[in-house]
Amino acid sequence: MVGLPAAGKTTRAKELAAAHHALRLTPDHWMIPLFGNAIGDFQRPGGERWVLEGRLISVALQALRLGINVVLDYGLWGRDERSALRWLARSAGAACHVVYLPVDKNVQLARIAHRQETTPHQTFPMSEADVDAWREQFQVPDAAELNGGEIPAPPAGWPDWPEWAADHWPSCTDS
Ligand SMILES: Nc1ncnc2c1ncn2[C@@H]1O[C@H](COP(=O)(O)OP(=O)(O)OP(=O)(O)O)[C@@H](O)[C@H]1O
Ligand SMILES: [Mg+2]
Repeated sequence: MVGLPAAGKTTRAKELAAAHHALRLTPDHWMIPLFGNAIGDFQRPGGERWVLEGRLISVALQALRLGINVVLDYGLWGRDERSALRWLARSAGAACHVVYLPVDKNVQLARIAHRQETTPHQTFPMSEADVDAWREQFQVPDAAELNGGEIPAPPAGWPDWPEWAADHWPSCTDS
């Protein structure tokens, strides 16, 4: 899954998991019980969120090797993150589909407000300024990513995608 907060990723991920008998991995559903739903230090680069995501990627790869479908319900704002995961999925013998859910800002804000009102304990607080900053950071997937095209080489200085992934998601080893 690829998309900004409140784009509808978890909603769609549940539908896909049911339709494809897939294991759904949703980091927020681990982060909030473990660390609460305030924005905290655990979100920093290399912090607990990234460790958790790395471990869940390892779980995903184990499942793929067992022939089990996986829905990775992450935000995956960065093209490099998506390239790394596409590469890792392929290395596990799986096909990989990038499911991108675009969302207009007004719809996003309305959904965030509704969710904050109805299920505050299942989400993180998000302001309009946060949303503006996130929309700037988000790298929209291109046609090659969406159509399963060629996977780009890792950024300069990285020998391969597994090493890049292990740096980006500490604990993201294929074991
Ligand atoms: N297609 C849709 N139409 C209308 N409302 C939707 C749709 N998809 C999701 N929603 C609602 O929008 C809110 C956000 O959806 P959801 O939690 O699935 O988003 P998300 O992308 O997983 O967000 P986050 O990144 O914060 O986990 C929820 O209240 C959900 O019920
Ligand atoms: Mg979600």
